Amino acid sequence: MNATDLLRDQHRDVEQSFVRVESALDDREKRTACEQLLDTVAAHSTIEKEIFYAALLDEPDAGPDVVDRLRCALEEHALVDFGCLRLAEADPGDPVFMARVQVIKEMIEHHVQEEESDLLPRAESLLGEERLEDLGAEMEARFGECLETGHAKLLAEALGLTRRARRPAKKAARRAGTRAGTKTKAPRPKRTRATKGTQARGRGTARNGRKSRAGRGSSGSRSKSARSR
Ligand SMILES: [Fe+2]
Ligand SMILES: [Fe+2]
Repeated sequence: MNATDLLRDQHRDVEQSFVRVESALDDREKRTACEQLLDTVAAHSTIEKEIFYAALLDEPDAGPDVVDRLRCALEEHALVDFGCLRLAEADPGDPVFMARVQVIKEMIEHHVQEEESDLLPRAESLLGEERLEDLGAEMEARFGECLETGHAKLLAEALGLTRRARRPAKKAARRAGTRAGTKTKAPRPKRTRATKGTQARGRGTARNGRKSRAGRGSSGSRSKSARSR
């Protein structure tokens, strides 16, 4: 099956998964249906980012409008991933469980509507049938692997919560010119009297202007950071 047909089919599967969660008769059934929904969404999201979006971002004829659309799509995927993580942590007996299902469903409906009305038709004209068939085969195989991996690991990787699998998300984000797992700069530690003294000794200068023992004897062995100050 070609890549765009595969993605459309998977969108219908995701819709069916939501129906199963919503029509579950008890908490146990709800939990089982939810696990299946999360596995399907996480696997679909992974193959789209890793293979399909990546192929479009590498396509030389993809104009800035396509790249912008992909940037937005990646942001939406990140929000859905975060929502899925919160849903995975919720208890089906808690009223917040269905609230989280509802919010993810709305986000996915919006995202799927944009993909099917805009991104997939553009991809079809940009990539051509042969390329779409090759991508479809690759995506189908990867989707099977992702289902085996399971949503817990895929979501942790997508959200940068594990070290190893940050790579695919980072790679796709780099291609789109966005940042995955943006780090906030740690605040500089406040200088206390004790640390001021340590820093002064590190530079080899005592308060009275004479070189300290550390300063006198260690000019050749000072650390790189001390030399660069
Ligand atoms: Fe998507
Ligand atoms: Fe999709």
